[in-house]
Amino acid sequence: MNHGHAFGVRDAEAGDLAALQELAVGALRWDAADAGELVDLLWPATDTEFALVRTVDEEIVGLAFGSLGPIPRDPAASRRGHLNLLAVDAAARRRGHATALVAALEERLREVGAGDILIGGATPRFAWPGIDVRYTPATCFAEARGYVPARDAVNMTVELDRAEANGRLATKADEARLAEHGITVRRLTEADRERITPWLAGWGGTWREETLSTLHHPDTAGSYVAVLHDGELDAEYVGFAAYGVNRRDWFGPMGTSGEQRKLGVGRVLLRRCMADLHARGYRTAQIGWTGPVAFYTRALDAYVERVFRMYRKGR
Ligand SMILES: CC(C)(COP(=O)(O)OP(=O)(O)OC[C@H]1O[C@@H](n2cnc3c(N)ncnc32)[C@H](O)[C@@H]1OP(=O)(O)O)[C@@H](O)C(=O)NCCC(=O)NCCS
Repeated sequence: MNHGHAFGVRDAEAGDLAALQELAVGALRWDAADAGELVDLLWPATDTEFALVRTVDEEIVGLAFGSLGPIPRDPAASRRGHLNLLAVDAAARRRGHATALVAALEERLREVGAGDILIGGATPRFAWPGIDVRYTPATCFAEARGYVPARDAVNMTVELDRAEANGRLATKADEARLAEHGITVRRLTEADRERITPWLAGWGGTWREETLSTLHHPDTAGSYVAVLHDGELDAEYVGFAAYGVNRRDWFGPMGTSGEQRKLGVGRVLLRRCMADLHARGYRTAQIGWTGPVAFYTRALDAYVERVFRMYRKGR
């Protein structure tokens, strides 16, 4: 079967980066604009992240990146493993390379204590919320390897030129109305960090990390906040929105405090972010891992486009 070739799986090394980026660009056709960057995004940054490569005669033909999730609150629960990126060179498919990579990654994850393994967004750093169903060989592969579909998530597309032409990026009138309620919408800055951190933490998940991370990447990311009585002693954050957190043209997360909903705070935050992306030269933007579809359709004429399927494999 192997005709004398030497097959192996090993840890990726820094010197492999360029080859892995090239591999990702060739394999990820639905992410053509930034496929290479996804390798950098998901490259191991902590000791609970892994990057493996498959080699044939020392030539790299595939990659699998994974990570071990945080320690769960429930002491009886195991940590969750994640498969974050998988790609095999188009010329080397259907020869079991992905199977070998995923088997090695699963073993590695189990060695460090993973219970189940998820193919889904390993927040705060993720490329997708699951497998884009148009990567159909990958969904078939996941199912063949015993992964069970968990749920679907969607992205919505915003056509920014069209949104602007239709007045969907304008916020002046809304902001004037919010001002009457004592609410200001402005950019999040480093000066907000201390005060906003506990408030953002209250939103749960990793929205605090995701939103604050935009302060470190002002060239590719940004965020806005809505503040009641801004600059006064009783100032209170009532909304936030971020873009460019993991992927340059993706919007999210965002949130508006319960008691301030229905005033148009979310719409203004959203449109300010979209106007930034438009000004940065993007023609389209993605509402990533969308929650309230109706809200984004109303505010921006956004439409559901990418569908991602999350998969889970038990112990
Ligand atoms: C998904 C991918 C990694 C599979 O790599 P591969 O090395 O070809 O996979 P394997 O040879 O180990 O396949 C194992 C099994 O998966 C299933 N499978 C893989 N490709 C398939 C296809 N095109 N159609 C149907 N089933 C497929 C089959 O059950 C296969 O077993 P079989 O060949 O005995 O029928 C590869 O298609 C790829 O790189 N796709 C583009 C990148 C991508 O979609 N990544 C996912 C986003 S993270």
